[in-house]
Amino acid sequence: MPSTNGASKKCSVLFVCLGNICRSPTAEAVFKKVVEQANEQDQFLIDSCGTGGGNPDWYSWSYHTGDPSDRRMIASASKRNVHLTSRSRPLTPEDLQNFDYILGMDYENIAAIQVAADYWASKGKTVPKDYRSKVQLMCKYLDKDGAFKGITEVPDPYYGGTKGFELVLDLLDDACEGLLTHIRERDVAKVAAS
Ligand code: 4NP
Repeated sequence: MPSTNGASKKCSVLFVCLGNICRSPTAEAVFKKVVEQANEQDQFLIDSCGTGGGNPDWYSWSYHTGDPSDRRMIASASKRNVHLTSRSRPLTPEDLQNFDYILGMDYENIAAIQVAADYWASKGKTVPKDYRSKVQLMCKYLDKDGAFKGITEVPDPYYGGTKGFELVLDLLDDACEGLLTHIRERDVAKVAAS
C-alpha cells in the first residue's frame, strides 16, 4: 500500500456487526481468504467486532464477548472451506482511530457505531474527526451488475434458519471480492496522483 512518505503502509479493515459471532467474523474470514488467495496478506490488517447494542454499558461489553462464532455459522462456512476462528469482542474507541475501513453489515450497525462515537467523545475519549468517512456498509462493495444488485444490507441470520447463514456467505463472497478490487484501484489512483 503506498503512503505519502513512500513507505509501505498496511491497509486495515474492520468488519462490524451486532454480536460478532455470525456476520462480521465471517466477513473477516472470507476477506482473509480472498486476500491470501491473491497473496496480498502482508499488505492487510483484518479484524472484526460487535456493537453489542441495547444495554446500558454496551460501549465496553457486548452480549457475546469472548465467545466463538455461532456454531450454525461455523458449519455453513466450513462447508465452503472458510474457517471461523475469531472470538467476539466489542468495538472500542481505538478502532475508530486504527482502521482505514470500518464496514458495517447493516444500517443498525452503522447507527450504533455513530452512537458509540458520540458517547465516547462526550466522555473525553479521542474520536478522530474523519472517522465517519471510514464507516460504510459492506454491501457497497457488492458487484453492481451481479446477482445481489440493489441489496444494501447483510441480513442478521441469528433468529432464522440455514438459508440465512448461506445468504450471509453468498453476499460476503461477492462483497469481499469487490472490496479487494476497490482497495487495489484506490492504491493505483494514489500512486498516479503522487
Ligand atoms: P451477528 O448476529 O450480529 O451477525 O453476530 C447476531 C448474534 C447474536 C445476536 C444477534 C445477532 N443476539 O441477539 O444475541
